[in-house]
Amino acid sequence: MTKYVITGGKPLYGTIDISGAKNAAVAIIPAALLVDGVCRIENIPQISDVTLILNILQDLGAEVRTVNRTTVDIDCSHVRNQPVPHQLARKIRASYYLIGALLSRFGSAQVPPPGGCDLGGRPIDQHIKGFTAMGADVDVRGGYIHATARDGRLKGSQVYLDIVSVGATMNIMLAATLADGLTIIENAAKEPHIVDLANFLNSMGADIMGAGTDVIKVRGVDRLAGGTYSIIPDQIEAGTYMAAVAAAGGQVRIHNIIPKHLECITAKLQEMGVSVVEDGDDLVVSRRGALSRANVKTMPYPGFPTDMQPQIAAVLCLAQGTSVLTEGVWDNRYRYVDEFRRLGAQIQVDGKVAVIEGVSQLTGAPVRACDLRAGAALVIAGLAAHGVTEIDSIYHIERGYEDIVRKLTGVGADIRVVITPDQEEAQANAG
Ligand code: EPU
Repeated sequence: MTKYVITGGKPLYGTIDISGAKNAAVAIIPAALLVDGVCRIENIPQISDVTLILNILQDLGAEVRTVNRTTVDIDCSHVRNQPVPHQLARKIRASYYLIGALLSRFGSAQVPPPGGCDLGGRPIDQHIKGFTAMGADVDVRGGYIHATARDGRLKGSQVYLDIVSVGATMNIMLAATLADGLTIIENAAKEPHIVDLANFLNSMGADIMGAGTDVIKVRGVDRLAGGTYSIIPDQIEAGTYMAAVAAAGGQVRIHNIIPKHLECITAKLQEMGVSVVEDGDDLVVSRRGALSRANVKTMPYPGFPTDMQPQIAAVLCLAQGTSVLTEGVWDNRYRYVDEFRRLGAQIQVDGKVAVIEGVSQLTGAPVRACDLRAGAALVIAGLAAHGVTEIDSIYHIERGYEDIVRKLTGVGADIRVVITPDQEEAQANAG
């Protein structure tokens, strides 16, 4: 069993480099399936979700060549249209992008229902609504989502999303890229990774307009050609380290970010008394005095991101006064609250609302990461807490944060990876 062991209470000083965006990478890599020729993708984060999606492409016959630590060449010329293996697809949410990508390229796809963090119900009805509007038959049989274009190729169509969905917006963009005619996605999501996917596809020859607004127009083309593309920096990774400085104190330069993508997080931290100063492609975050309470509601971009909700909760736990946190995207994103309570946090949850009474000090304890962002939030709480915090199930964190231990030790945090034999193994050895 691998744990993080954090001795908290040390302010952070130095610079943290931000990696490429996870939620852009896990869509852009499957998008390589649409490209005739070699795609060079730069600024890929080294995280387990990326390894998984690359493994899925390789299983389908893609050639993946590592150029350097953050760059891969992907050649999908010899990809076969075969069912995506269960054991890979179920470990990752982004496997749903294979439906749009394979449907676009081959006119059919067989993909198991996706996995990912448990945040309550995670339906994909809006993805299916889009594929159906484009002339696909979609059903679930034998553990697979089967999607087949009735005429062999999807047809452009108008799709109004009933709910603003990041995944559905990107999946329909993928499906529409090689479709016959114009697809219009209305009530589209506007997250930075949606613009990044559109920029990637356009740089390979697609015709996509309006990404980043709520109406996206995709005019289908016959083929995409190879090229080179660099993924944007990770908004949520940057926000997580900003929250860590807010909670633990100190001064850290968050290097290589797009300040615009972080405006809502910056504004909220400033409201709480944290200094955030923009300096070119960096933000300098510092906190010396007390934190003030704040209310936070998560919403689709450009609102406060749901993927920062547990991390901002960690900061609010240490703010003076009562804060109200409202989850506006997921049904159940407070599963981490019991773990926070072990550290001395005072949080009451009622449905989508959490009321947080700030405490002057958290104290270290053994805790468990229950999902990716909740795990990151426990790291933040552990950095600020007095004493030692041990976090297990850290594989959740490593799905989305490249080199988190190295990055934090680089700014003075006392965080170590400790490997202990798990109990069953220890008992077997003892026997
Ligand atoms: N929804 C539907 N029907 C659909 C799709 C979504 O009802 O067909 C609902 C969901 O249940 C949810 C809301 O719409 O209430 C938004 O879901 P969305 O589709 O936007 O989420 P997603 O595509 O499944 C991505 C990220 C999540 C992030 C959300 C929201 C990836 C791989 N995942 O999920 O990231 O929370 O967008 O921004 O891009 C994370 O990185 O920790 C993470 C969970």
